[in-house]
Amino acid sequence: MARCIGILTAGGDSPGLNAAIRAIGKSALNAYNMQVIGFRDGFRGLMENRTVLLEGEILSGILTLGGTILGTSRDKPHKMPVGSRVQDMTEVMLDNYRRHNLEALICIGGGGTQKNAHRLAQAGMHIMTLPKTIDNDVAMTDITFGFDTALSIATDAIDRLHSTAHSHHRIIVVEIMGHNTGWLGLGAGMASGADVILIPEIPYDIKQVADAIRRRRHRGKNFSIVAVSEGAISIEDTRKLAALQKKKQAAGDSKQQKKTTAALEAFKAQQNNNTLHLSRQLEVLTGLESRLTILGHLQRGGTPTAADRILATRLGSACAAAINERQFGCMVAVKGETTALVPLDQVVGKRKVVPLNHPWIRAALETGTCLGNHIF
Ligand code: F6P
Repeated sequence: MARCIGILTAGGDSPGLNAAIRAIGKSALNAYNMQVIGFRDGFRGLMENRTVLLEGEILSGILTLGGTILGTSRDKPHKMPVGSRVQDMTEVMLDNYRRHNLEALICIGGGGTQKNAHRLAQAGMHIMTLPKTIDNDVAMTDITFGFDTALSIATDAIDRLHSTAHSHHRIIVVEIMGHNTGWLGLGAGMASGADVILIPEIPYDIKQVADAIRRRRHRGKNFSIVAVSEGAISIEDTRKLAALQKKKQAAGDSKQQKKTTAALEAFKAQQNNNTLHLSRQLEVLTGLESRLTILGHLQRGGTPTAADRILATRLGSACAAAINERQFGCMVAVKGETTALVPLDQVVGKRKVVPLNHPWIRAALETGTCLGNHIF
């Protein structure tokens, strides 16, 4: 019987996914004589047994394509919306895994996917994962693919905002993705010479941000670029959030629990408009006109950079080789110029945030960038 492995892509899409699918497929077929099937739309396709045979033609011409030819979704195996109910569909997935007599299933995704994949490994599947996300926040790997592409898209966008901010003597606040980490915001802000960079790891003081802009104005610079990670939060809101979380934990009866949960949800919803609020506050505090640009999903779209294509190809081929050696239950991580297999239980439940002593932070400060908090 032919050897067979499966692939799925889950979570938010990310440039380089097709390069990884191609690398796994070509290596498995050429080097190890394994057949490869893809499951469509993440874990949902595994549950519904919607497959595509990944052979020669399908794997050809996809290296440079953005998105994922397999489709993706944010569905979780243990909390799958089916009809009007949310159910644990792990057993159904296990049946489909066995139906195809898979030697292993490769799940390509970010932090959430690593967790879900780990659950399937615990349920008895031979699982391998690859780390992808534009957020670069997966633990135990130097970098994730997709990050480099998003970084260059965001940098290019901020470069363009610079000339219009300069011409109109305005502040431009630019919101950058990254979930609850600041890799993308800090990287793109530094690469484009943003005057202020706000990231979730460093709660900011709006007055210090306004002071930095005013100081620039006194030096004759009538415009400023404020690069803000979507998860950035003020010192004041950090305190409010901590108090709400404490209240929720202490809530006794179910009425109190409902009330505190609702208050926390309302607070989080309000945080979604944080950058708009920030832009308005800066207008009031500095007297300069301010505009907000939200880069959004532009950062995830389109063709991957050369660096991401190479990275995804390296990880994909290393993954096929590891499966051939019957290594399972691991993420194929990037460690400098090489790859390493990290057991999934060391990956899940952690998030790689920007350490406060990271060289990027030091370099940003030493080149005069305001990070919104004097402590740094
Ligand atoms: O995880 C990647 C990411 O793009 C985050 O940066 C962002 O917060 C999130 O996905 C957006 O998710 P969605 O595409 O589901 O709106």
